[in-house]
Amino acid sequence: CRIRNYKFNVIMTNTTKLCKSKQIVTVNGRFPGPTIVAREDDIVTIKVVNHVKYNVSIHWHGVRQLRTGWADGPAYITQCPIQPGGTYVYNFTLTGQRGTLWWHAHVLWLRATVHGAIVILPKLGVPYPFPKPNKEVVVVLGNSDTEAVINQAQKLGQAPNVSDAHTINGNPGPIASCLANGGFKLHVDQGKTYMLRIVNAALNEELFFRIANHKLKVVEVDAVYVKPFTTDTILIAPGQTTNAIVTATQKAGKYLVAVAPFMDAPIAVDNFTATASLHYSGTLTSTAIKLVAPPPQNSTPVANTFINSLRSLNSATYPAKVPLTIDHSLFFTIGLGINPCKTCVNGSRVVADINNITFVMPTTALLQAHYFNISGVFTDDFPSKPLIPYNYTGTQPTNFATNKGTKLYRLPYNSTVQLVLQDTGMIAPESHPIHLHGFNFFVVGRGIGNFNPNKDPKNFNLVDPVERNTVGVPAGGWSAIRFRADNPGVWFMHCHLEVHTTWGLKMAFIVDNGKGPNESVIPPPSDLPKC
Ligand code: C2O
Repeated sequence: CRIRNYKFNVIMTNTTKLCKSKQIVTVNGRFPGPTIVAREDDIVTIKVVNHVKYNVSIHWHGVRQLRTGWADGPAYITQCPIQPGGTYVYNFTLTGQRGTLWWHAHVLWLRATVHGAIVILPKLGVPYPFPKPNKEVVVVLGNSDTEAVINQAQKLGQAPNVSDAHTINGNPGPIASCLANGGFKLHVDQGKTYMLRIVNAALNEELFFRIANHKLKVVEVDAVYVKPFTTDTILIAPGQTTNAIVTATQKAGKYLVAVAPFMDAPIAVDNFTATASLHYSGTLTSTAIKLVAPPPQNSTPVANTFINSLRSLNSATYPAKVPLTIDHSLFFTIGLGINPCKTCVNGSRVVADINNITFVMPTTALLQAHYFNISGVFTDDFPSKPLIPYNYTGTQPTNFATNKGTKLYRLPYNSTVQLVLQDTGMIAPESHPIHLHGFNFFVVGRGIGNFNPNKDPKNFNLVDPVERNTVGVPAGGWSAIRFRADNPGVWFMHCHLEVHTTWGLKMAFIVDNGKGPNESVIPPPSDLPKC
């Protein structure tokens, strides 16, 4: 294995967004930020230097961080943020992982512009379990806003500003209000194959992805190989990554790439389509582009078909190690509520919760509190089921109020967990992409309506369920996941819609140390930022 060293300077950068100049926070002046390239089992170090006036921390989304929670990144969960002028070196090993992941800021809403891809190649000499593509291309989907992201983050308890446009590799493509340029172009040669490493770095929208006249062969999600399948449309939630191979099967020409949001019932979200294009070599500039429309915003059947096609590869080399016995069976409701608020207009504010608990961010990092036994920072009494049971999809409860707390759920080392995530669909009909730090999990089941503990588990897929780090919990429905708590530390779990995280749709697991020699959290590095 090799050591890969990177340096990330977090700086203010002048950009022109939608014909308006503004300053954004970037890494090394780039949007999207630099791609980290490494191989399975390599050691990666990233020296992050904070040159801006905001607190900064960076999360390596999907990297398992075995025993190295200090390098995971979420502010006040595993570290205190890097203060203005500060430096921190993230140091971790990519143990047993290969595929596409990504990195992003994990404080305030800075991830809007502070993000980039992580490409983990297989070990030298180890082939992909599918024919090697001729070329590989990173495709990062994001947002473009003319308002400063930091203003948005301060609007706690209010709906976020609708983003002004989506972007593909930093560019929205020509849209009505600003036709300045043609968007991201992917140059292709007829007959060749291209693996797109797609990342959804958008703040708040699940996205559909399509290319005119071309099929997409999905081979991997969240850095785990899947049984390859062919589709017209990819669905990707914030936090998720998808590798898909496109073969340049068409004649010379230009073909539109279209990206637009999915939402079960359209509400006021950014419904602009971002566009890019495939350009075959030898195509004249005057050639008209072949168009494609993204699915309409409420195309739930298209979304379901895509999700139901995902299966672990589950081969001899890459077996799906689904836990078959369960030590901790958890049932978490996720939803939005309304709490009284003295300083708010109308005297109330929208909050979000898991099991009726709106998570309160601590001011000391939880991992530090856990490791050094600092009391008074958190409690470990997070409930295994909701405090207020009700019919999640029937009439709405009269009491939306939630409790507040910094509550964690404690898991013994190596115990197995089944977690049913039930959406309560109380206010907004949208999926919640739930992300668990420190683990991959298997998505063993999914359904609409109330989870039925007597019936639904009988239909769980325990053979080849998709393995990932972020799962969409369907609006008014549920997803069931299983994982093994084989990574000691403190691990955040939250909705990857930034607005819901801000409102409190988050909690954390503590995984205790095991008794074996390699079963405990390693000591913190000496440059770990102080609070
Ligand atoms: Cu991609 Cu906690 O985040």
